[in-house]
Amino acid sequence: VGHIDDVQEIRKAKPTSIPKRFVRNRAERPSLSTIMSCDEWGFFQVINHGIDLDLLESIEKVATDFFMLPLEEKQKYPMAPGTVQGYGQAFVFSEDQKLDWCNMFALGVEPHFIRMPKLWPKKPLNFSETVEEYSRETRRLCQKLLSFIAMSLDLNKDTFENMFRVAVQAVRMNYYPPCPRPDLVLGLSPHSDGSALTVLQQGKGSSVGLQILKDNTWVPVQPVPNALVINIGDTIEVLTNGRYKSVEHRAVTHKDKDRLSIVTFYAPSYEVELGPIPQLVNENSPCKYRRYSHGEYSKYYVTNKLQGKKTLEFAKIQAQ
Ligand code: SIN
Ligand code: FE2
Repeated sequence: VGHIDDVQEIRKAKPTSIPKRFVRNRAERPSLSTIMSCDEWGFFQVINHGIDLDLLESIEKVATDFFMLPLEEKQKYPMAPGTVQGYGQAFVFSEDQKLDWCNMFALGVEPHFIRMPKLWPKKPLNFSETVEEYSRETRRLCQKLLSFIAMSLDLNKDTFENMFRVAVQAVRMNYYPPCPRPDLVLGLSPHSDGSALTVLQQGKGSSVGLQILKDNTWVPVQPVPNALVINIGDTIEVLTNGRYKSVEHRAVTHKDKDRLSIVTFYAPSYEVELGPIPQLVNENSPCKYRRYSHGEYSKYYVTNKLQGKKTLEFAKIQAQ
């Protein structure tokens, strides 16, 4: 991110208008949504997640402290173009692409070889150990949830665990400053996650910002105190042959309030071959996705802009 596109810096200058690169085309602007109810969301919130509430508070604190550092300090950990680790704006590939009203800081955590130690910040002091501990806990939670998902499909509870080998895990912190014209911009472009599961923690004092797409309507997710939001990612949609669907979501901004979210992505090891699990393919449910490795998908995902569920076309078997 150049100085000029850093939303925290833009905000500090108290602009009366929004820089063009952030102003969305009419069709993309976040308009009013109505709440609808339905069974199949691809998303849920967990309350009895077993993660110490102090740890949730600590990760929020180090994330906030990091984003509040001066820009020069944060830019010591730059996100290189076309990559998804470090500080900046991910998924930006061209000059004419609209920018999200969001600053991101992302780190690969597990397995160790994906770590880029130069990008782990020295400030705030306990940043790294907090991320380590938080990641261990969210990993356990993902493993547990995946075993529940397996059982719900009459599969052996260790199906995903055995398949994923040493699962890939990354953490991303998103900071959305207040925006004088929330009606013109997006905090984060619509997308579904490339992961198997995503754990999303919303900052305690944050504005309501996450929205999920349900029957062509953007539905705001009301934060539940101390709960974690779980998103089904593309990988689970493919493995379950569409029985579980990845959820399309986006974030919007608020006029006076800022917002923080901390996101953990949990995915199979890169060499793992994906494709619908054979027991979930039959006459009534023909195979919808081809076979590919998670590494291939991951590469495709991070080299394309966020574009709703279009990224998953990569895995679809085209109709004859
Ligand atoms: C994300 O999808 O990565 C984050 C959405 C949010 O900030 O709630
Ligand atoms: Fe997401």
